[in-house]
Amino acid sequence: MTGEQRTTHFGYQTVDEDAKAGMVHGVFSRVASKYDIMNDLMSVGIHRLWKDAMMDWLAPRPGQRLLDVAGGTGDVAFRFLKRAPGATAMVCDMTESMLIEGQKRAEAEDMADRLSWQVGDAMELPFESNSFDVYTISFGIRNVTRVQDALAEAYRVLKPGGRLMVLEFSQLPNAAMQKAYDLYSFNVIPVMGQVVANDRDSYQYLVESIRKFPDQETFASMIRTAGFGLVKYRNLSMGIAALHSGWKI
Ligand SMILES: C[S@@+](CC[C@H](N)C(=O)[O-])C[C@H]1O[C@@H](n2cnc3c(N)ncnc32)[C@H](O)[C@@H]1O
Repeated sequence: MTGEQRTTHFGYQTVDEDAKAGMVHGVFSRVASKYDIMNDLMSVGIHRLWKDAMMDWLAPRPGQRLLDVAGGTGDVAFRFLKRAPGATAMVCDMTESMLIEGQKRAEAEDMADRLSWQVGDAMELPFESNSFDVYTISFGIRNVTRVQDALAEAYRVLKPGGRLMVLEFSQLPNAAMQKAYDLYSFNVIPVMGQVVANDRDSYQYLVESIRKFPDQETFASMIRTAGFGLVKYRNLSMGIAALHSGWKI
């Protein structure tokens, strides 16, 4: 042991590993009340199509038990439950104010009895091993300090035969398209964050964190390293986002 502090990235900043979770928590605590509307504005509603594509591939089945990690306001869990009668969902997130927004939605949509909400960290899930049929994480994993640890936890809590599905921003296939996308994201999104949520910095972090996340193939190999089999991915909107699927077999 050298006692040396390990570092990681927070967007484009290099920060101590121990500091990152608190900074991410700060971002999502600040944006929680505007999170859903900002998602629609930033993606011009396209995040809804991506989440529907996630459900199409996942094909939720009646009675399944879902764990939606970094589940925030519950968007993915709601979609899952609407497609699977008798299924139940646990939404776990480290930011309580995001879960509180989700609970309000659950009441409004009359789905509260099929949902549970738990504050917790993706890298150290407060659940027993082998206890869920499906694990989802949508636009959450790039915020996690040690992504490989979160994948190991996903593997641990899934039942044998259980399935992981990750929805995350990804990388476009060529430099020209990436440049056009960067122009939009770096110039428009922080300004939108300032105008709508009065918080430019949080949305600057968001676009930087997207660029720091590994490409499709690298992330697929991280999922295999965690023990998952039959790992596959599908690009969404040419790779602006991607779905990764794996099975605990
Ligand atoms: C961009 S939001 C995604 C919310 C939701 N899954 C969706 O797709 O709309 C990211 C969420 O990840 C949560 N988060 C970040 N790091 C986390 C961690 N280590 N453990 C659990 N949740 C985390 C944040 O609190 C935030 O609610």
